[in-house]
Amino acid sequence: MKIGIFDSGIGGLSVLHEAFRHLSDAEYIFYADEDHVPYGEKTEAQIYSYADEITRFLVQQGAEGIVIACNTASAVAAKRLREKYSLPIVAMEPAVKPALEEEGSKRVLVMATKVTLREQKLRDLLKKEHGEERTDLLAMSRFVTFAEREEFDSRAVKDYIASQLAPFDLGQVSSIVLGCTHFNYFRPVLREMLDKMGHPEIEMIDGAPGTVRRIADLLHLPLDAPGCGAIFFSSYQEMLERFPAKYYFSGREAVGEKDLAHLMHLHNQLEKGEAYK
Ligand code: DGL
Repeated sequence: MKIGIFDSGIGGLSVLHEAFRHLSDAEYIFYADEDHVPYGEKTEAQIYSYADEITRFLVQQGAEGIVIACNTASAVAAKRLREKYSLPIVAMEPAVKPALEEEGSKRVLVMATKVTLREQKLRDLLKKEHGEERTDLLAMSRFVTFAEREEFDSRAVKDYIASQLAPFDLGQVSSIVLGCTHFNYFRPVLREMLDKMGHPEIEMIDGAPGTVRRIADLLHLPLDAPGCGAIFFSSYQEMLERFPAKYYFSGREAVGEKDLAHLMHLHNQLEKGEAYK
């Protein structure tokens, strides 16, 4: 089965990476909308029109199911895309539910884009999960820019995290929800900083595992038995051999060495983050 996975940029690779681990049977077409990232700074109308165009493109490429590997586009466009297209469409939402359900959980800090945080979809979710009183919302827009330029643990990234977290009493927080797929790249640096601040107990939860289970469910695909081991690549050739996939940057297929090596580095950075789950 051919599955089209898209995001505003390279964040959606975190969903593809998780799919490699658990749904190795499918064929993937990955689309990063590099011409329009960040979606988190766009209007709802713009985001819908990008998502619609990408869905059409992926259907033309033979996708039999679509995954919106972007919390922002999911909040804005999923409902209308489902009305327009007849194929199954899997959308994402910040993993608030598992974070609130954790045993002994205290406050939950939801990090996402500005658009995701202001959309009705998140408000409905918090209401449904009785989470309004126990959640704090934090826009981390600069993470998207940092991730897009492969800047994952520079001084600037660390200063940004420190200043964003400063207003919160982290002693009251049990988990941080990474409610934007770009944020997964920062698991290692977030872990390092939370530990240094004296909070090794704060967990980080993202939506990729739930999304992959949902893909399996909706598209009737078997989930692999756990234990495929680490997904680190030493070359892009190895990446393409082990997990054949087509990659597009806004409609242009990634075939050159530079683009493929970039994708390989990104997969490796995500795999680094696996150690902090
Ligand atoms: N990766 C996207 C998300 O999950 C959006 C990032 C952006 O383009 O602002 O929300």
